[in-house]
Amino acid sequence: MDSVESPNQLKTKKTVVKIREMTIDDLALVFHMGEKLFLAEHAPNTYRAWDEYEVTDLFYSDTEFCLVAEYEEQTIGFALGTTISKPRSAWKYGYLTWLGVLPEFQRKGVADKLFQRFKSLMLQANVRILVVDTEADNAKALNFFAEQGFGHPQEHIYLSMNLDQERQRMSRKKKPNGSQQRFFKIP
Ligand SMILES: CC(C)(COP(=O)(O)OP(=O)(O)OC[C@H]1O[C@@H](n2cnc3c(N)ncnc32)[C@H](O)[C@@H]1OP(=O)(O)O)[C@@H](O)C(=O)NCCC(=O)NCCS
Repeated sequence: MDSVESPNQLKTKKTVVKIREMTIDDLALVFHMGEKLFLAEHAPNTYRAWDEYEVTDLFYSDTEFCLVAEYEEQTIGFALGTTISKPRSAWKYGYLTWLGVLPEFQRKGVADKLFQRFKSLMLQANVRILVVDTEADNAKALNFFAEQGFGHPQEHIYLSMNLDQERQRMSRKKKPNGSQQRFFKIP
């Protein structure tokens, strides 16, 4: 694939991007794509939540809601999600947990294609409310979701506590000092 020319062609040749259900062969690819996209410095909360288990767990629990975008046999994007039903509620929620497109293929309608497919799967699954979340300063994602019709943003605050000092204190307490050590005399 010509990596310079091909991404530029996507805008005009949208049909060449194929959206398909994720397979077991995509697991590592999707995980590594996420590592490139969810960076600690730009998206600390997203970065913390992204790991191999996130991808494998969603794949095994919700295979039908895990999609990838493929361009000339290269996996270039993904949408992973799930549905949530409450025991005493008629409302079924859909959650688009992760969405990503490789940087060189961004702004060419790939996420739009992924989302359209995801949304139609949610409709088939009788989902009534679709939810997404992202960092408050992720302008790309916020624009994208606004463009798709998402609204009613609600704030959610993350707080953090550093447990390093406490852990060090605990490990100092646990360490046996001379007077507490027991020596056994070998007869
Ligand atoms: C957010 C993201 C998935 C969008 O993917 P994409 O394939 O570039 O999006 P599309 O090309 O389908 O964009 C559709 C619309 O979204 C908006 N949009 C997308 N990227 C944008 C950007 N960088 N700046 C402003 N608006 C943007 C635009 O309205 C765009 O339509 P237009 O190009 O006709 O103006 C992509 O930027 C990405 O992977 N970001 C890093 C991962 C991430 O933050 N994921 C979301 C949280 S899990």
